[in-house]
Amino acid sequence: MSDWISTPAGPLHGEIRVPGDKSISHRAIMLAALAEGTSRITGFLEGEDTLATARAFARMGVRIDAPAASERVVHGVGLRGLRAPDGAIDCGNAGTGMRLLTGLLAGQAFDSTLIGDESLSKRPMRRVIEPLTRMDAKVESNEGMPPLRIAGNRNLCGIDYELPVASAQVKSAILLAGLYANGETCVREPHPTRDYTESMLRAFGWPIEFGAGWAKLTGGHRLRATDIVVPADFSSAAFFIVAATLVPGSEILLRDVGINPRRTGLLHVLRAMGADIRESNVRNSSGRTQAGEAIADLVVRHAPLRGIDVPVELAPDMIDEFPILFVAAAAATGTTRIRGAAELRVKESDRIAVMAKGLRALGVSIEETPDGAVIEGGAIQGGETGSAGDHRCAMSLAVAGQIAQKPVRIRDCANVATSFPGFVELARACGFVLTPV
Ligand code: S3P
Repeated sequence: MSDWISTPAGPLHGEIRVPGDKSISHRAIMLAALAEGTSRITGFLEGEDTLATARAFARMGVRIDAPAASERVVHGVGLRGLRAPDGAIDCGNAGTGMRLLTGLLAGQAFDSTLIGDESLSKRPMRRVIEPLTRMDAKVESNEGMPPLRIAGNRNLCGIDYELPVASAQVKSAILLAGLYANGETCVREPHPTRDYTESMLRAFGWPIEFGAGWAKLTGGHRLRATDIVVPADFSSAAFFIVAATLVPGSEILLRDVGINPRRTGLLHVLRAMGADIRESNVRNSSGRTQAGEAIADLVVRHAPLRGIDVPVELAPDMIDEFPILFVAAAAATGTTRIRGAAELRVKESDRIAVMAKGLRALGVSIEETPDGAVIEGGAIQGGETGSAGDHRCAMSLAVAGQIAQKPVRIRDCANVATSFPGFVELARACGFVLTPV
């Protein structure tokens, strides 16, 4: 257990690059491992989640070199080249790692078992088991939760599947199983979600058609090695975007941030609340136009915020940013209403409950609803609060401490290393007064 004390600060300043995108780093390791040839990944996230995914492939016989920090050279073994691991694969805290691996392992010639930490062991897996079972995969679970036992040597068949809940993880699990399936696999979503798996499959040479809310591929092709440049993670940048917005006198420049529209719903919401966020130098992460992701440098200056009704249709485009939005809303004038975000209850923690309780402990008036919250803006008083071991809640509450009237002690922050190694150091370099205790 490690606690932090976040103490009200002066203005925040600096030019920073937050670590690499978590979603893209997981996928880059997976596709590079299954490709033919050697792929170089730069900007790789050295977080516990993505390190667990890299370890999983190392245990299945893939050589992965780390010539420098945030760089990986993956010696791909081809679609059928993985070896059975010598025991269960530990995905740690990573829902993305586990759900995507489930799809991919369903197509292998060997059996495998996936386990996770306490939080991951309580997360719902039926959402991937159900469509994969329709593809003739065999996945056993503990009443819909990990551990997952995935049978090998199945003859998968393609499906046309309509997702009941918008989820890039479920979509990706089905597409990865589809690589091994006979015939066509088609996924449709109730709302478009991040399309990294689709773009990256194309970058590795797999024929795939996709658009907003749908993707279609056929099995039986090959992945060819390519180089992947991972942008800075928008979800990690979000803590600094909100911190600079809230602390008077602040100005921060965030470099190389991924601005895929399926990730940046928070920018729309913050701007509607009055934030001053400018995008400059918009370009493609790979320097080419086809592969790679749109990135930009973001300049954020302090601005007072007012509460709004958060548009429901933006929820999937900012699903990981609600914890920090709760803090922005707590510091705004007026009321902010969040709806349509029930998925927050099945993330690394129940993020609605954890943020409501966490902010209430700091004197914020906040009412939980089944799919969101009503937050009354005003002063954040300070005190002791908990993150329930959820990385994004911990970092959000640390931002709250920077504008509180008294110091904020946040319990249980160790899991920040899953997505944002070096958060404390980077935050302090910008002027946060933040001390691990
Ligand atoms: C992710 C998808 C989202 C997101 C998670 C990463 C991904 O989860 O919350 O942090 O990389 O595909 P869901 O698919 O459960 O919405």
